[in-house]
Amino acid sequence: MKKDLLSIYNLETADFEKIWKNAARLKKLLKQGKDHASLKGKTLGMIFDKSSTRTRISFEVGMYQLGGIALFLNSRDTQIGRGETIADSARMMSRYLNGIMIRTFAQDSVEELARYATIPVINGLTDLFHPCQILSDLFTIIEKKGSYEKLKVAYIGDGNNIANSWIEAAARLPIQLALACPQGYEPDKKIMNKCATDASEGITLYSDPREAALNADVLYTDVWTSMGQEAEVKERKKIFKNYSINIKLLAEAKKDAIVMHCLPAHRGEEITAEVIDGPHSVVIDQAENRLHVQKAILEILL
Ligand code: CP
Ligand code: NVA
Repeated sequence: MKKDLLSIYNLETADFEKIWKNAARLKKLLKQGKDHASLKGKTLGMIFDKSSTRTRISFEVGMYQLGGIALFLNSRDTQIGRGETIADSARMMSRYLNGIMIRTFAQDSVEELARYATIPVINGLTDLFHPCQILSDLFTIIEKKGSYEKLKVAYIGDGNNIANSWIEAAARLPIQLALACPQGYEPDKKIMNKCATDASEGITLYSDPREAALNADVLYTDVWTSMGQEAEVKERKKIFKNYSINIKLLAEAKKDAIVMHCLPAHRGEEITAEVIDGPHSVVIDQAENRLHVQKAILEILL
């Protein structure tokens, strides 16, 4: 049966290990300059309803490196953008492609696509989740810290798709997750409630970023305004002004804490230039790993 990657919660413990083991192997092969055309002749359709730099490049280059090809499908230029149904698109695309990666607004659209497609569907970000990002971030944490087990991850900022996927990760793996979000901008309540009971090391929601950051091994943040929320930029800048990873907040974390950001970053907003360009930051390695982890996912699913 085909397998999709729609959210972190759907994954089993063995899936995580399989993806990271494969990612480490593929990363090594690439660094050694060895060809690895395991997906020769395979095609991935990439549907984009929102902008992307990393996700697009890493999936496209990833398919190329694995011997296959990736098609960039901007919804505006396809019949989806003119009202062709998700069901028809899914059924028809399944006859041409070996897999679909989709970045869109509603999580329901991705789930509908997966329901009708007979090929694997990968969620490349929705308003609700960004599973590929967090899978890759955990791989980076393993590289930098040896393991994620029992580590404290502090997420500072908007209770958005990245926060929701972190919450799902804490429900599946032994990570202590602390989040600090302004009132009214907390993560999805349903996801919080569902995951709180499964989380072995706990998920705690604070309003004070210092409390969340205290003794953290990983400090993580994301933009204050996500794609699709552009009309709220001005208001959000005021509301989130104290939810910034700066030197003072970094001092609350462990001395060897790493600082992560899924990127794109806004220096002077959710993170200061001093911190993101400083010695604790791993953001560029983090971005690189999107390539290796997504290749691992593609190889497993396709
Ligand atoms: N982090 C991430 O998904 O980046 P892009 O929006 O550039 O793909
Ligand atoms: N929360 C951000 C993540 C971008 C990778 C957004 O959805 O725009």
